[in-house]
Amino acid sequence: GDLASLGDVTGKRVLVRSDLNVPLDGTRITDDGRVRASVPTIRALAEAGARVVVVAHLGRPKGAPDAAFSLGPVAERLGELLGSPVAFATDTVGDSARSTVDALSDGGVAVLENVRFNPGETSKDDAERGAFADQLASLADAFVSDGFGVVHRKQASVYDVAQRLPHAMGQLVSTEIEVLRRLTESPERPYVVVLGGSKVSDKLGVIDNLLEKTDRLLIGGGMVFTFLAAQGHEVGASLLEKDQLDVCRAYLRRAEEAGVQILLPSDVVVDTAFPSGDRTPQPSVVPASEIPADAMGLDIGPEASRAFAGALADARTVFWNGPMGVFEVGAFADGTRAVAQALTQVDGLSVVGGGDSAAAVRTLGFDEDAFGHISTGGGASLEYLEGKTLPGITVLED
Ligand code: 3PG
Repeated sequence: GDLASLGDVTGKRVLVRSDLNVPLDGTRITDDGRVRASVPTIRALAEAGARVVVVAHLGRPKGAPDAAFSLGPVAERLGELLGSPVAFATDTVGDSARSTVDALSDGGVAVLENVRFNPGETSKDDAERGAFADQLASLADAFVSDGFGVVHRKQASVYDVAQRLPHAMGQLVSTEIEVLRRLTESPERPYVVVLGGSKVSDKLGVIDNLLEKTDRLLIGGGMVFTFLAAQGHEVGASLLEKDQLDVCRAYLRRAEEAGVQILLPSDVVVDTAFPSGDRTPQPSVVPASEIPADAMGLDIGPEASRAFAGALADARTVFWNGPMGVFEVGAFADGTRAVAQALTQVDGLSVVGGGDSAAAVRTLGFDEDAFGHISTGGGASLEYLEGKTLPGITVLED
């Protein structure tokens, strides 16, 4: 159920699993989107008088404390956004966690240190995970699942703890699920899916599940070169997943049979080296069928950008996941910018899938409100769209 299903939470200790996994540059948060998205549920519980205990992960530490992955800076940011101080425990289930939770007053908020500092969190062994979930559960009277970005993980703070406490779904998780449902259950047409990012192999499940359900599939980013190669083009020094060539050929065939249009870029922006260090980019635009042997494709070209925008113009439903190029470098950001711009014009539901594309629209300066929904989940939204069951959701329904 939703938060109301927990009944009166005044004075109760409520453990909230949030996804606070934000990109950091040292201790500076470079995109706080996930922290902001976590605020409504935390605030609602605090305002209802609960003692809120937030548990979350940051990065992929190796099951032991590691200062580089401390949630300290994130707890501080959360306090700024809430407009009230947030207590921080320097461990997850140890003495600091216990005393921090004990010191909370009604309406107070605490953040526990990175849950992945504990080997039990991500253990594949049910008993080990369960033992750690017991410790987490002992800190609270109820559990709220709000970390949408991790609901595809069968981990102690996402899955096992829900089996040990009265539980509810947070506002972020229910909003995200609602939007994704609209993308899979009778979406308004035309339905256009835009995929990018570096690897085809990350997107196979989504293409497989959505191909016949869409009207158009637009492909850019590093993954497009495997499709171009599958069509028989030379891709020079571009990214290429040779073991996926047959898979891409099969998708192109399936699309043709189903009357679904797969749109690949007609031109690309290339350079002779991947942008790195202080080397000045030397971009040039070439037809996608004439990529020189020493050139690497780093963005879709201007003609492709116009074609992609045109293919999005009459869409009523759009899902976009993955940048069109190396958008972090100005010379290779135009394709991603053009797609983002086109999404802001959509008369209908436009959804930006999480991770890189969500960070891209924010770092390129777009107003978040111009999109229908910006998901906080990368892997989680993809797995939902692949038709997989998400352990962190099913456990709430049982
Ligand atoms: C994400 O960044 O997609 C989520 O926070 C999940 O992180 P993970 O892939 O390390 O489990």
